[in-house]
Amino acid sequence: MINYWTPQHRAMLYNDYFGSKWPDSRFMISDRWISATWFIGNNYKSESKRNVNDEPFFGAYPRGYLKRVSCMFPDAVNILHLFSGSLTEEQVHKDLLKHQLAFRVDGDHINMPDAVCEAEKVSNIIIPGSYDLIFADPPYSVEDAEHYGKCLVNKQKVLQECHKILKPGGSLLWMDQSPPIYAKKDWNFYGTISIYRSTNNRIRGVLMYEKV
Ligand SMILES: C[S@@+](CC[C@H](N)C(=O)[O-])C[C@H]1O[C@@H](n2cnc3c(N)ncnc32)[C@H](O)[C@@H]1O
Repeated sequence: MINYWTPQHRAMLYNDYFGSKWPDSRFMISDRWISATWFIGNNYKSESKRNVNDEPFFGAYPRGYLKRVSCMFPDAVNILHLFSGSLTEEQVHKDLLKHQLAFRVDGDHINMPDAVCEAEKVSNIIIPGSYDLIFADPPYSVEDAEHYGKCLVNKQKVLQECHKILKPGGSLLWMDQSPPIYAKKDWNFYGTISIYRSTNNRIRGVLMYEKV
């Protein structure tokens, strides 16, 4: 992918789309960095699938997250949702532009992703250099992983896998509570979004990387 879009362009795009609706959510833009803070608030009409007890999916994306962030990547055609969890086909397509294609991968078949695969081995099922954009939302801690009946994923290894399957210049948007270790020769770490829901809810960070 020839990248005509710099992080600064992407941030300006968000600010144009959503800046007048939510001025506090606008990106701050510097020569090497973009950053934003989004106060999303509680929304009891969760978009995520519910379990048999009608509880929302543990760790689902904050409401509206994908819609807001997707507007920054009009150049992305192939989009991978890694650790896709409760995301349904209908939900991921709702926020896409006409030319965009999304593929969902999760380690648990019960979530009915497009492919069931451990994230540490995802390059076994995907052609290297074939994706423009990856959204990743792993379990953040050992306790979180236990909610899904899994051991905590090796985040460094997953980053290496993401690097393999992205096109040069492609972006990885990684949601977590602490930034994973990454190799500077492989990634340009260009931005962050801090997402606050409400009191007593965790603050989640989106780390934005570009494949070097
Ligand atoms: C935080 S949730 C993602 C939630 C998702 N963002 C949503 O909106 O529903 C983490 C997901 O990672 C999956 N998972 C955990 N360990 C995994 C692994 N090693 N490989 C692939 N998926 C894994 C779990 O099954 C769970 O669906």
